[in-house]
Amino acid sequence: MNILFVGDIFGSAGRKIVREHVGHVREAHNVDLTIMNVENAAGGFGVTPQITEEFFDLGADVMTTGNHVWDKRELLEYLASVPAGSDKRARRILRPANMQPGVPGYGVYEGTIAGGSNKGLPYAVLNLMGKVFMSGTNDPFNAANDLLAQIKAKVIVVDFHAEATSEKVAMGWHLDGKVTAVLGTHTHIPTADERLLPNGTAYQTDVGMSGPYDSVIGVDKDLVLQRFLTGMPSKFEAAKGNPKMCATLVTCDAATGRATGVQRIMLGE
Ligand SMILES: [Fe+2]
Ligand SMILES: [Fe+2]
Repeated sequence: MNILFVGDIFGSAGRKIVREHVGHVREAHNVDLTIMNVENAAGGFGVTPQITEEFFDLGADVMTTGNHVWDKRELLEYLASVPAGSDKRARRILRPANMQPGVPGYGVYEGTIAGGSNKGLPYAVLNLMGKVFMSGTNDPFNAANDLLAQIKAKVIVVDFHAEATSEKVAMGWHLDGKVTAVLGTHTHIPTADERLLPNGTAYQTDVGMSGPYDSVIGVDKDLVLQRFLTGMPSKFEAAKGNPKMCATLVTCDAATGRATGVQRIMLGE
């Protein structure tokens, strides 16, 4: 089974480059399951239900988010509009599972492969957020244990949305042999450490941003530099230049969920 994970889609430049590439990548690699992190898809800050429609139409099965999930109020209402057992589009957009109790939405989605030779096969996507240098989260390690105990699917993909490389590497080891892949998001810089861990989990510290690389992690570089140089507040705007789509392709045994391959993809204009 082939799984494509697209890293943090940032602003209109990110949406454009994903629109350009995701279709041919899915086709060339016979992708069964497509997951996209969309926390920055709306101008760098959050995502709207309308924008997620386009990603679903491009073939996304499930979307993950992170600390920017609440930036657009309409998404909050959208996530709250579906019951846990639904497989509607709104239910297939996740927020980190280990946020404070009582927040809208869900952190896990269990579904079945939509088409192709693996049609009907169960899978699960789990969105977790780090605790180191981040706020509003509970311990992701024990949260992962608790959630995995309830998941029946063998093919399980974890988006670990975290800042610290140490916390991400630790999560890879924590879940090695328990899930198909632990893929990091949030830092917007792809890391060259994709590998298969010894017990069969594909791991990468950060998939990287799908967005404008002539920027500071997606934001207009002059505005960020201004803030560093003066210490004064400035309104951040999404950059546009040099867009790349960063994604990671994971191959696994459909019956056991064990990863058999992991490959980084970076495509520009
Ligand atoms: Fe992000
Ligand atoms: Fe983030």
